[in-house]
Amino acid sequence: MEPRAVPSPPIPLYGRSVTTTAPTLRARIYALLRYSDPTPAARQVRVVHLIVLAIGLFAVILLSVDELEGQVRQILRVIIWTVTFIFLVEYLTRLWVAPETPRYDQDSPTRARLRWAVSIQGLIGLLAVLPAFMFAGGYAITGADAASVFCVLWILKVGLHAPAFSTLARVVSNERAPIASVLILFAILLMIAATAAHMFERVKQPEQFGSLPGAMWWAVVTLTTTGYGDVVPLTLGGRLIGSLLMISGIAVLALMTGVLATGFAQEERRREYLRVWEQVARVPLFASLGVVTLSEIVGKLRTRYYPPRITVVRRGDAGDSMFFISSGEVEVRLPNGGSVRLGEGAFFGEMALLERQPRSATVSTTRPTTLLVLYASDFYETASHIPKLAEAVENEAKRRREENLERQAAGRR
Ligand code: CMP
Repeated sequence: MEPRAVPSPPIPLYGRSVTTTAPTLRARIYALLRYSDPTPAARQVRVVHLIVLAIGLFAVILLSVDELEGQVRQILRVIIWTVTFIFLVEYLTRLWVAPETPRYDQDSPTRARLRWAVSIQGLIGLLAVLPAFMFAGGYAITGADAASVFCVLWILKVGLHAPAFSTLARVVSNERAPIASVLILFAILLMIAATAAHMFERVKQPEQFGSLPGAMWWAVVTLTTTGYGDVVPLTLGGRLIGSLLMISGIAVLALMTGVLATGFAQEERRREYLRVWEQVARVPLFASLGVVTLSEIVGKLRTRYYPPRITVVRRGDAGDSMFFISSGEVEVRLPNGGSVRLGEGAFFGEMALLERQPRSATVSTTRPTTLLVLYASDFYETASHIPKLAEAVENEAKRRREENLERQAAGRR
């Protein structure tokens, strides 16, 4: 049977009208080039970008090997120029879409482009495409110069756009107080150990421990548990200090690891929260909730991205979550053989949670789809706190159940 397209379920919007304007080409390209954009298309752009970068780096690194034959070198040069021209196109595109950057939204397009061009991202992007201009000027890339300079610039270029860079900066900024405490502890231990080792060892090893900086080098190597073995304490006192320092080093490193790991986990939770906020606006069911209620539910939702033709829930499986469609479309294959399509703003997977029964149908994506997932325990808690939401979900589940029964009855006739 031909699947029937069904719009979002009839959920009241309580008088609100939702108006959306189609994004311009420039805005769409800006979104595609944003490293933090979660859509599948943007992800594909990132993968292609990274593949181009990997090929370019491979060629640049290989070119620095002196033993290569002339023909191989020629091929490598062609690869480097090709990669550089791709980066040049990317640079010009980023320059063109710069007015879409939120922090330049008060500027005219020209000023926004100028500001982007002189930002660190813009300058590194420009330096990374310099070989293209050199090539145009008749300059032939040789081995070592290209390898040493462009490896650094290309990696920096990608690193500056990658969310990992901004995440690290945010984590360091958020956790600056505990990081400073650990560093101060590190400095205290270092100074005590270096001074003590200097006192114990300076007579026996004046070259290594005769000065405080020399003793500090040994303390740093020991405290960080690196242990080159170039400087070793020989006296009983020096060895005792060394042992204590090694044990303290493990504790200090563990402390720093803990601070950074917690910071990264918190930052990831915060980002997921913001991602969900962006998506939630597209689900009419949430549009009528107040900010406080909404922020409560946003904390419980998780975003999931599915390519086309992926089964999200399978008939007969146990249900542990329900889903809201923030973008894309799914097809529900009903028990009687028919099917229904659900689009942006609709939800599914609620029946198994409400009836505490296995999944009543198989649901698969028909195109790239973003879902907001609400796990069962959070669903029951939310339903008890937000009766308006529970009622809308229950009414829709009831309507679906009746529709399925009718269809089954019609099938039997
Ligand atoms: P659940 O039973 O948990 O898993 C399958 C889901 O398909 C089900 O919840 C509903 O959300 C959805 N579903 C079942 N029947 C229909 C229907 N007739 N129309 C739309 N969606 C349906």
